[in-house]
Amino acid sequence: MTQEYERLEKRKNEDLQVERIGHQLDDYSIGLCVTGGIAAIEVPKIARHLRRYGANVNVYTTYEAHKFVGEASLQWGSGNPVVTELSGNSEHICLEDIVLVAPATTNTINKIFSGIADNPVTTLIASALGKGVPVYLAPTMHETLYQNPMLQENLEKSEKYGINIIPPRVGEGKAKMPRLTAIVNAMLRYAKAQDNPEEEVEQLKLDI
Ligand SMILES: Cc1cc2nc3c(=O)[nH]c(=O)nc-3n(C[C@H](O)[C@H](O)[C@H](O)COP(=O)(O)O)c2cc1C
Repeated sequence: MTQEYERLEKRKNEDLQVERIGHQLDDYSIGLCVTGGIAAIEVPKIARHLRRYGANVNVYTTYEAHKFVGEASLQWGSGNPVVTELSGNSEHICLEDIVLVAPATTNTINKIFSGIADNPVTTLIASALGKGVPVYLAPTMHETLYQNPMLQENLEKSEKYGINIIPPRVGEGKAKMPRLTAIVNAMLRYAKAQDNPEEEVEQLKLDI
């Protein structure tokens, strides 16, 4: 896989390539889902940073995400075509190893917990959950939306469904997107736990 990664990376236009930091995510394809929050502007950077650890990154978007971030930026950041709609290519069947939703809006989180599958993001997650693929959500929104009791009730159910929450940074009346390092670290921790299932995940320290 490492060789395969190097081969695929070399085939990318030089402008799209990233510099290697590590190999921890070499065997992982990450479905990076983008929903309609202002923090969507940060996603191209997240995609590039995940690639620096060897991950293949496929971006999936909701319709609303495109109010905040363009398809070209997401394609540039991930180095792959962006899934903006479901097509005859069956993008609705999850082939990813990890699904990460950052930012995750109130709307999309509540849809996920209601079992709704009506766009590339919610459908990918429905399939991921049926397949046992780990799903990570980074809830990002105004504080009033974050404190909404229905949202909180759903977030409390996350463990039951095998959904992991990457907690927001709270400030300025907002539940803000976690830092890039916290998001990437969550992926690195997951990969590390797969390599060393006996080790306590909490004890792992990976600096990025
Ligand atoms: C400027 C602006 C910023 C927004 N930021 C957020 C946000 O950070 N979090 C959120 O949950 N909704 C936010 N919204 C509302 C969502 O865009 C809206 O609920 C939308 O329907 C979400 O669709 P999606 O979940 O399918 O992407 C924002 C809307 C606007 C106009």
